[in-house]
Amino acid sequence: QLKDNTIIIVLGASGDLAKKKTYPALFGLYRMGFLPKGVKIVGYARTKMDSAEYHKRITSYIKNVEDEEAKTKLEEFKELSTYISGGYEDDASFDNLNKHLVDIEGGFQGNERNRLFYLALPPSVFIPVARNLKVHCYSKAGINRIIVEKPFGKDLESCRELLSSLKQHWSEDETFRIDHYLGKEMVKNLLVLRFANVAMGAAWDKNSISNVQITFKEPFGTEGRGGYFDEFGIIRDILQNHLLQTLSILTMERPVSFAAEDIRDEKVKVLRAIPPIEREDTLLGQYVAANGKPGYLDDDTVPHNSVCPTYAATTLWIHNPRWEGVPFILKAGKALNEAKVEIRIQFKDVTQGIFKDISRNELVLRIQPAEAMYLKLNTKTPGLYTRAIPTEMDLTYKRRFTDIHIPEAYESLILDALKGDHSNFVRDDELDVAWKIFTPILHWIDGKSGPAPKPVQYPYASRGPKELEAFIAKYGYKRSTEGYAWPLTNMA
Ligand code: BG6
Repeated sequence: QLKDNTIIIVLGASGDLAKKKTYPALFGLYRMGFLPKGVKIVGYARTKMDSAEYHKRITSYIKNVEDEEAKTKLEEFKELSTYISGGYEDDASFDNLNKHLVDIEGGFQGNERNRLFYLALPPSVFIPVARNLKVHCYSKAGINRIIVEKPFGKDLESCRELLSSLKQHWSEDETFRIDHYLGKEMVKNLLVLRFANVAMGAAWDKNSISNVQITFKEPFGTEGRGGYFDEFGIIRDILQNHLLQTLSILTMERPVSFAAEDIRDEKVKVLRAIPPIEREDTLLGQYVAANGKPGYLDDDTVPHNSVCPTYAATTLWIHNPRWEGVPFILKAGKALNEAKVEIRIQFKDVTQGIFKDISRNELVLRIQPAEAMYLKLNTKTPGLYTRAIPTEMDLTYKRRFTDIHIPEAYESLILDALKGDHSNFVRDDELDVAWKIFTPILHWIDGKSGPAPKPVQYPYASRGPKELEAFIAKYGYKRSTEGYAWPLTNMA
């Protein structure tokens, strides 16, 4: 564990990710007292800026600093954060960074010197930066760790190239590949929900479950990120990483222990049982202008004839005894009607005979916003006659855990990296299988195996392509009878 004498170095400190996620998470950990004692933070990027400008940028997304105590903490946080500008490819810049680190370390007690490097960088400079850090900034008297962010390549081949280049300089043990969904509270809860509850464990297979949907919805388009997005598309942005990672924890067998490698072994095993996605199990969409909002192609940074999908629904199959025949539908879209990420497990029909038109049980795990779990149950309508109506058993976190602060995903993951716990980071072989599942349809979408498919259109702020309903029904999903709806008051 990185305790004392630690510097956290954020590379790409002037970028969006650093500003929106990394620094707010670092501050969150600092104010809760979770960063190492006497920690220092060093930002590094190409942009030239003075200390005042740097402090302004890194605190611009930090929220909830109204009271005096928080304000004091924020001042301390600025005090311990310094900035160095330099290039990503040249040796002299990294020698200069190292000199700054050594200067800071001059103020440390004892001989230990730990460095945690956080790469919030565009993929084009991953490799030179990883190399330069190893050659010029690697601490010889302590622990070194490197945190990296997606994209990890664009397909199986490019991912393998990237990984092997990084491995020349950084060992697997030193490397922490972030998928921030693994830091989300409800995703982390899956292990406990499944393996600490006999009732859940017993129903968790093809005998009870008809189909599963994992859904990601965002209410905004690619505004401002069109250039990046067009090269990657929604599948690489969300499905291949965030949703597939969630799926692997939802479906893996019970790990031998909570140890990182035991968990990751099971994740890899279940992913290996998933064949590449078929074209006919895929629905692609692209949003068009509506409700006063611009369409995807109206974005100046997007090529005018782009067929890049901003929406995708794909169905995966797991060929193992637990899951044979159960469709897992992964859906994600930009510019939809709401912000919501959830897992919806729909159980099978109850045996026919005594009930007619009875709703199926569904277990819904809402990852965000407002974490909740609810189980749709048929209950007798209270009163003097026997009729079943769909209701729910509800565990809404805000109501059940009134005094608890749910950490941000990045807070939880940076803390794990400081502790050296790899459980919630993506191992190299996990990435390899993840790309195997998605590479063939991605090549098809990229037009590498014949003409590229044209996505169907859907209006900005809608529920997605109108074809979606039929797509889901094809895999056996049945809507509840009597227009069941989760009471809106439960969302508050
Ligand atoms: C990122 C994607 O990985 O996840 C973004 O690149 C997306 O496009 C984001 O907006 C969503 O994260 P969250 O935590 O807001 O659900």
